[in-house]
Amino acid sequence: MSERDALSEEAAQGDGGPATRRMIIDTDTAADDSFALLVGLLHPRASLEAITVVAGNVEFEQELQNALITIEASGRAGEVAVFPGARVPLRREWHPASAHGDGKGNHDFPHPAQSVSEEHAAEALVRIVDANPGEIDVVAIGPLTNIATAVLLDRDFPAKVRELWVMGGCDNSVGNVTAAAEYNFYVDPEAADIVFTAGFDVTVVTWTLTLARALWNREQLARIEALGTPLSRFFTILDTPNLEFNEGVSIYGSTHPDSLTAMLLVRPDLIERSSRKFVAIEHGSELTRGYSLFDDRADRNAPNARVIDEIDEAGFFEAYLELLRTPL
Ligand code: BDR
Ligand code: CA
Repeated sequence: MSERDALSEEAAQGDGGPATRRMIIDTDTAADDSFALLVGLLHPRASLEAITVVAGNVEFEQELQNALITIEASGRAGEVAVFPGARVPLRREWHPASAHGDGKGNHDFPHPAQSVSEEHAAEALVRIVDANPGEIDVVAIGPLTNIATAVLLDRDFPAKVRELWVMGGCDNSVGNVTAAAEYNFYVDPEAADIVFTAGFDVTVVTWTLTLARALWNREQLARIEALGTPLSRFFTILDTPNLEFNEGVSIYGSTHPDSLTAMLLVRPDLIERSSRKFVAIEHGSELTRGYSLFDDRADRNAPNARVIDEIDEAGFFEAYLELLRTPL
């Protein structure tokens, strides 16, 4: 039994902590998306059932490769299937992100041994969740096109998903694409609207929280590099373009929204405060395309989401550091 399997078994047997979470990660795989995949692939409390890929950060074929490279880096090649999904948003043109290079640190990794599956991501989401109603959490860390498509394929999909965790939006603060909008909601606002009105049990991790609590400075990144493990080397390669891009726009560190989202699912003890809010996504205006309204006045707008307001910032970093120590 590998060390990872032993830890998973210990987690499953119950040691007072939360149970193992069965999850599907829906990703536009580049840099921090890969770091979120590592949580699913390696954390003892995570059981990653599938990876579904959606148009977002970088060229779609590159995203698929990045997902396969990440599985390979985790030592789990061939164990978790990768399903290609929407290659464009529901109604908009594809809009790449500029913060991640090619999403794999512009580095030449060996060609991954694993290939992607033939089934469409949305169909895979519906099939896997339908076979395990109430059992599977979906972690959506890209534009919400695949999740919205799954809703359109099966209107009962939201009720069958255990919890949907979304990285996206700004809690009434400035976005990272426009002043109004964060990237994931900006890219496919129609999909985001479908998802937030579909009836999921949804938790949101925002760009606002990311900038405040999931920004790792050069000192922290040096601690990661100093681990000297294959995983820490993989991390540093992929993370460097984001660090350099951010410093160019006066953000002093690399940002970790997606890995924060995945980590909070398996480490809910890191959540210090959350609140129920009404969350709605603007899709009718070009000026405020993808703007996310967060309203905590429950008497005016009935809450439809839980929003993570505060986390244990140091605890998140240490938890990720620990993940990168995983023996392969
Ligand atoms: C989100 O946009 C993407 O660039 C990142 O992967 C993250 O999911 C942050 O706005
Ligand atoms: Ca992402």
